[in-house]
Amino acid sequence: MSNFPSLTGAEIRQKFLEFYQRRGHQLLPSASLVPEDPTVLLTIAGMLPFKPIFLGQKEAPFPRVTTSQRCIRTNDIENVGRTARHHTFFEMLGNFSFGDYFKKEAIAWGWELVTSVYQLPPDQLVVSVFHEDETAFAIWRDEIGIPVHRIQKMGEDNFWASGATGPCGPCSEIYFDFHPERGDTHIDLEDDSRFLEIYNLVFMELNRQSDGSLVPLAKQNIDTGMGLERVAQVLQRVPNNYETDLMMPIIDAVSAIATVPYRQCDAKLQTSFKVIADH
Ligand code: ALA
Repeated sequence: MSNFPSLTGAEIRQKFLEFYQRRGHQLLPSASLVPEDPTVLLTIAGMLPFKPIFLGQKEAPFPRVTTSQRCIRTNDIENVGRTARHHTFFEMLGNFSFGDYFKKEAIAWGWELVTSVYQLPPDQLVVSVFHEDETAFAIWRDEIGIPVHRIQKMGEDNFWASGATGPCGPCSEIYFDFHPERGDTHIDLEDDSRFLEIYNLVFMELNRQSDGSLVPLAKQNIDTGMGLERVAQVLQRVPNNYETDLMMPIIDAVSAIATVPYRQCDAKLQTSFKVIADH
């Protein structure tokens, strides 16, 4: 158990992008944090620059794309520094299909990436599916071979949308299990002390209208998101996203300027360091 290699944030990013480039994805640069989209103020996910493509308003420049997108989410601001995993600013690794491959390939490649490239042990992974998505459930069970008690059916948490209206769809997540010794009888993916969501695969095939109704998109698309800082936390075996090589240098610099050693601070003061590092 837990024999996976320790990788730097830069290595994690590079391995993700190379994995998908080898599978026919065009690498694109991170888009601006201020999107050309009147429905949102900031780029909240890797998919945001591709919304017009999902909606059929723009032609896809390539059928498959991979990016490492810088994102800002303000809805988690109260949790920043208080939990191990929340940020306002973070990097989302993603692979996208614009009417090209769909669930089968997205799930198979997602699993291959986490278990073969990052070498996370399968017995330390749990997956979730939208409760009505029997196709995704069957792919995990029959094609990937996940035991059914480690495939959790979820409600609205496994239906992803970038906003009140627009492209959306059921999703399937991969969680890392920090405590497999606690057994499989009461898996509660909301339990932060045990599980960390690392990869979200969205099956983008619906368009929510302003009256709330769902209309199928012209094509079935894939939108995924892997939190770079979260995978770094797991692979670097540190207790939170902040103590990874991606963020710790900022904390160290603040510590040096303030002449306050972070490691010797209580949790409350450590939170302040983390908030500065995030912002
Ligand atoms: N767009 C999906 C997310 O942000 C992948 O979780």
